[in-house]
Amino acid sequence: MLISLKEALDYAEQNKVGIAAINTPTYEMLLAAVRTAEQHNIPLILQHAEVHEPINTIEDIGPVMVELAKRSTAPLVVHVDHGESYDYVKRGFDVGFNSAMIDASRLPYDDNLALTQKVVALANEYGYGVEAELGVMPGREDGSQASTGTSNETLYTDPDLAQSFVRDSGVTALACSFGTVHGLYKAEPNLNYNLISTLREKTGVPIVMHGGSGLTDSEYRECIKRGVAKINYYTYADKASFEAVQNYLAEKPETFIFSDLTTIATKAVQQNLNNLVGILYGKS
Ligand code: 13P
Repeated sequence: MLISLKEALDYAEQNKVGIAAINTPTYEMLLAAVRTAEQHNIPLILQHAEVHEPINTIEDIGPVMVELAKRSTAPLVVHVDHGESYDYVKRGFDVGFNSAMIDASRLPYDDNLALTQKVVALANEYGYGVEAELGVMPGREDGSQASTGTSNETLYTDPDLAQSFVRDSGVTALACSFGTVHGLYKAEPNLNYNLISTLREKTGVPIVMHGGSGLTDSEYRECIKRGVAKINYYTYADKASFEAVQNYLAEKPETFIFSDLTTIATKAVQQNLNNLVGILYGKS
């Protein structure tokens, strides 16, 4: 069934868990994410990032995401991830997405705020929630662009700016930079937990973690304790499916059945997500 972003975030805060927000640009990722949510009967966010358009357009994979979410027994949100323009968010709503992130974080503050306000006004017409971003996070959401694997403290979200940004934009949740990076870590992440607490307190809205791959169990738990309610996760699930396929091909080089590979990929993502939700929701 479809639930709103607000309902998912309220669940997170009431139950002291982090909602897994999984990028599902392929059918294998999508199926694995839905099955994981159903298996544990947990709310989960299915999301499509604009940067994943070359894999599948939102018009192609989006209606499948929406249909699977509607008929699922699990409570699911279907969310535009890192929409870079008003038009892209609108394309998501047009195919049935019920939540969106507008990412104008690379623009100057006033331009970021103006575009976010415009998207919030659009979402309000539908009664949908909006996530925006303040502060800059290294790396590309599709994992393709190498970040240094470490974060730069000068790009961390400023709590006073975050407070006025949330007040003036009316967003439901705020993605913040506090030490995570998109993609693979090349060095230990250096998470600023006190910054998360301050951001949650000053903004009054749940904090979103981007670059959710690659943290330790205790790092995830501490971030949730401090005010992170949505955890965006992609690279390590994708990597798990790739490695499973690679191992299978090494063992059976004579295989020629492609659908065997897609089945293996789906199972590997599901296993990876099972581990993740074990940590984020205290399920195993
Ligand atoms: P990772 O690919 O690092 O898990 O981050 C995903 C993300 O933040 C998508 O918005």
